[in-house]
Amino acid sequence: MTIHELRKSAIDNNIPIMQDDAIEYIKRRIKLFNLNKILEIGTAVGYSAVQMASVSDKVHVTTIEKDAERFMMATKNIKALEMNEQIDLIFNDALKLDIVEKYNLIVIDAAKTQNTHFFEKYKKNLLNHGFIIVDNVNFHGLVGKSQTIQNKNLRQLVSKIEDFLEYLKTQENEFYIDIIDDGDGLAVCQKI
Ligand SMILES: C[S@@+](CC[C@H](N)C(=O)[O-])C[C@H]1O[C@@H](n2cnc3c(N)ncnc32)[C@H](O)[C@@H]1O
Repeated sequence: MTIHELRKSAIDNNIPIMQDDAIEYIKRRIKLFNLNKILEIGTAVGYSAVQMASVSDKVHVTTIEKDAERFMMATKNIKALEMNEQIDLIFNDALKLDIVEKYNLIVIDAAKTQNTHFFEKYKKNLLNHGFIIVDNVNFHGLVGKSQTIQNKNLRQLVSKIEDFLEYLKTQENEFYIDIIDDGDGLAVCQKI
């Protein structure tokens, strides 16, 4: 199996994975800042973890997934790609887990309504000058327009992302925050 086959199989099976330019942005940041200790929340089938680990064999990724089927698929994929040494998989709900280790990059790509909780819980696991990157903060261009959305579930989801962006403003004393349009929108937060 190759990374490209993994990407194709995730797309064919309707598994949500990070968009290409979001992944490329994160990989550039890993290279530029030498971010070699990464925690990811939301493994799905391991695609983004494999992409991040592919930057260099010095990069180590710990990734958390709470869905049993996806966790098993990710385990199988990472073994098939011979990346077991660089990627550790944790099967658990990231909100119920306690991790003491510190990282220089934390990627949040899990339940979009829980971003504030993930951020609050895991910011203690960030090394000084490290980054927290949160995916899908534009949510298909709908963020900022929640009041015009007819579908109730979608409106609530988008409104939670809007709340998260408001919450981020309260973090500006601890983080440099950049909201960028790559992929589906990334919040790039560097610990001061
Ligand atoms: C968008 S997918 C992740 C895609 C993956 N990062 C990629 O680009 O290849 C989100 C994943 O987060 C998982 N997830 C949601 N809430 C979670 C939680 N509280 N703890 C761990 N995993 C969670 C979901 O089961 C889902 O597989």
